[in-house]
Amino acid sequence: MNILVTGGAGFIGSHTILELLNEGHNVVVLDNLYNSKLTALERVEELTGRSVTFRELDLLDVHGMDKLFSEHSIDSVIHFAGLKAVGESVEKPLFYYENNVTGTINLCNVMNDHNVKRMVFSSSATVYGNPAESPLTEDSELSATNPYGQTKLTIEHIFRDLCRSDSDWKVSLLRYFNPVGAHESGRIGEDPTGIPNNLMPYVTQVAVGKRARLSVFGSDYPTHDGTGVRDYIHVTDLAKGHLKALEHLEQESGAEAYNLGTGNGSSVLDVIKTFEKVTGKKIPYELTDRRPGDAAICFADASKAKKRLGWETEKTLEDMCRDAWKWQTKNPDGYN
Ligand code: NAD
Ligand code: UFG
Repeated sequence: MNILVTGGAGFIGSHTILELLNEGHNVVVLDNLYNSKLTALERVEELTGRSVTFRELDLLDVHGMDKLFSEHSIDSVIHFAGLKAVGESVEKPLFYYENNVTGTINLCNVMNDHNVKRMVFSSSATVYGNPAESPLTEDSELSATNPYGQTKLTIEHIFRDLCRSDSDWKVSLLRYFNPVGAHESGRIGEDPTGIPNNLMPYVTQVAVGKRARLSVFGSDYPTHDGTGVRDYIHVTDLAKGHLKALEHLEQESGAEAYNLGTGNGSSVLDVIKTFEKVTGKKIPYELTDRRPGDAAICFADASKAKKRLGWETEKTLEDMCRDAWKWQTKNPDGYN
């Protein structure tokens, strides 16, 4: 298949493209490089021995996207492009709504014009808001606690309405839990700018000596050790989920949501202990106040994806820590 990957130079996109190329698909990438480097794609080409077509293009550039679709025969789109920083979305809501929501509407309009109606979309467990209970099924209550989450929820609604209006459209809404780790080669991985917001990149930067200690946000949650529980998923497992969703698209009737997680919850202290065990590195940490807006517990019921897509995770928390550490040590300054 000829697949357009938006946001393909980013963390999850680059890992997914690697799997797509290994499966023999042809890939065209659209990315404005706002939060990524072209080096990621060069390394994917190196790892697979195959090439990708890259176009530096913004979702807000309708003319440019129209030209891209005219020049390439696209069968399906995997849509990763979007802004993802929760805190920044609170400060700059218009920037987030315009980029994520308007950008997606632009993409869908261009797809309609070129009669391309197959889409795999990067949604997020953030659409479950601050959940009262886990495991979360696809039927759990949806809500948003910040503008970023609201963009994902809004885009899910847009896809549902679009599919209802035109039965030719088939869309997979993939709700990722907490993607971490890196490709086992250590050549591609997550390259956050500035101080990482997320746990795993922060842990690896402490381990490599870039940051003095980790702040553990909250130790009085109703969990087995008091720290927050999440469903960490290896980015390679996540990437493979996109291939399964793509293969299954023809059988979907409209827009269908799938949780992509392991189904297991791990606490912050579980992550620290596992990381220390597999790397032999000590992670100095201090217990601090809760981070505003954080849920106590959030993990997936991933049985729908297993049953319908034939997908389940293979990698363990140990694999995630080992591969995140390999990436960090081989690339102390990311792609720079
Ligand atoms: P990322 O920032 O590494 O990748 C996103 C890519 O999209 C970047 O390369 C960026 O330059 C590009 N982009 C952003 N806006 C664009 C625009 N207007 N036009 C063209 N390109 C644009 O992020 P990621 O972690 O790979 O996430 C990919 C997707 O998955 C995002 O939509 C994100 O919201 C979603 N998601 C991520 C996580 C996570 O924890 N990483 C969790 C749930 C959902
Ligand atoms: N944590 C710390 N210290 C840190 C960073 C995180 O203790 O320095 C804790 C958090 O409190 C939480 C856990 O580690 O308990 C995981 O935090 P992350 O920031 O890595 O991930 P979140 O679950 O908070 O956020 C993720 C995505 C968001 C998305 C959200 C809901 O990063 O984009 O899931 O789906 F909105």
